[in-house]
Amino acid sequence: MAKRTGTARKPTPTGWAAPPTAGTKPLNRSLHAAKATKQDEFYTQLSDIEKELKHYTTAQRNHFKGKTVLCNCDDPKVSNFFHYFAHQFHKLGLKRLITTCYKNDNPDLFSKHEGGRGLRLIYNGEQTPGGRIPALSRLDALPLEEDGDFRSAECLDLLKQADIVVTNPPFSLFREYIAQLVEHRKKFVVIGNQNAISYKEIFGLIKSNTIWLGYSHPVAFMVPDHYEMRAVRSWRDEHGQNWRSLGNACWFTNMDIAKRHEELTLYRDFDRARFPEYDNYDAIEVSTYKDIPADYKGVMGVPVTFLEHHNPDQFEILGTPSNEPDNDCRTRVYTSKECRDAYRERFGKPGVYDLNARAVVNGVKVFARVLIRRK
Ligand SMILES: C[S@@+](CC[C@H](N)C(=O)[O-])C[C@H]1O[C@@H](n2cnc3c(N)ncnc32)[C@H](O)[C@@H]1O
Repeated sequence: MAKRTGTARKPTPTGWAAPPTAGTKPLNRSLHAAKATKQDEFYTQLSDIEKELKHYTTAQRNHFKGKTVLCNCDDPKVSNFFHYFAHQFHKLGLKRLITTCYKNDNPDLFSKHEGGRGLRLIYNGEQTPGGRIPALSRLDALPLEEDGDFRSAECLDLLKQADIVVTNPPFSLFREYIAQLVEHRKKFVVIGNQNAISYKEIFGLIKSNTIWLGYSHPVAFMVPDHYEMRAVRSWRDEHGQNWRSLGNACWFTNMDIAKRHEELTLYRDFDRARFPEYDNYDAIEVSTYKDIPADYKGVMGVPVTFLEHHNPDQFEILGTPSNEPDNDCRTRVYTSKECRDAYRERFGKPGVYDLNARAVVNGVKVFARVLIRRK
């Protein structure tokens, strides 16, 4: 157990203190675990919400003015998304704030979500005579008929009323969650796992410039007491609060943000020795996005981090080297025998080196890449 005694204080319904230092292991184990066991209760810190949303709420680009915001995976009693928008309601010029909560009619902060019904709360900017947000009990809060699943008919009705959806949805349902937002043509900015970029459906949306990545990377999340402690990326603060840190959480959005219009400055010239051609794609290997050659007009394989800097006026996203058959840049498909032979040659024992899953340079698979071309 990694015990920490950071600066975090006990959470209150009005937000959390600054995060303690996150753990050190760079692997996204917790996210895998969340998916495997459906441990979806990772609670977002207010500071992480502020850090991201400041890019969507500038004087030049206030996406929220006159809009109805929906936080549909959020218990208003504890959600920092609700907290953020309720407190910023007038400053942002919101029209309405709707929050729905999944299976949580239990007043405890971290119930085990055993209650059957969800909850919905609508905030229209009401204030106390002192200019504060009234107690939640004085607001328009109602138990839902169903469990508050974002796919339920009631929640879909609320989604239809919303202009923008902002939350941290359950990791285990991310594909469906995004698909629903896209289907209903909603604007959104939501937290997800960078691994989701490699999901066929999500990558397809990125490729078509339907969704893109936001700015920041939330790291530390509070988790319920009943989540077991892990050897790494897991700690309890001095108040007994259970925390996990994630190495690859990020924001996904379809709202216009300044960085989508910033050109990546390209300093390098093309040089065949530095940028080898792939054995199986008609493309060159560029091992860091900062090295993208300024004078190369063909297809390039770049690390996934490129997507954080993607300007659709500067580059076109063509695909990703993977087992997916529909990739126009692919020049070679390896046979099963070639994959078995390659494994034996590399590791000296029987196995399968899945050369078709990646771009290959001189017989060696490279890390995950995105194929791009200058416009
Ligand atoms: C990653 S947590 C984030 C909670 C909160 N949005 C935040 O950021 O602090 C995801 C939340 O989605 C809820 N959830 C799980 N399945 C859901 C579903 N089908 N519909 C709506 N919410 C769901 C979980 O109970 C959990 O509270």
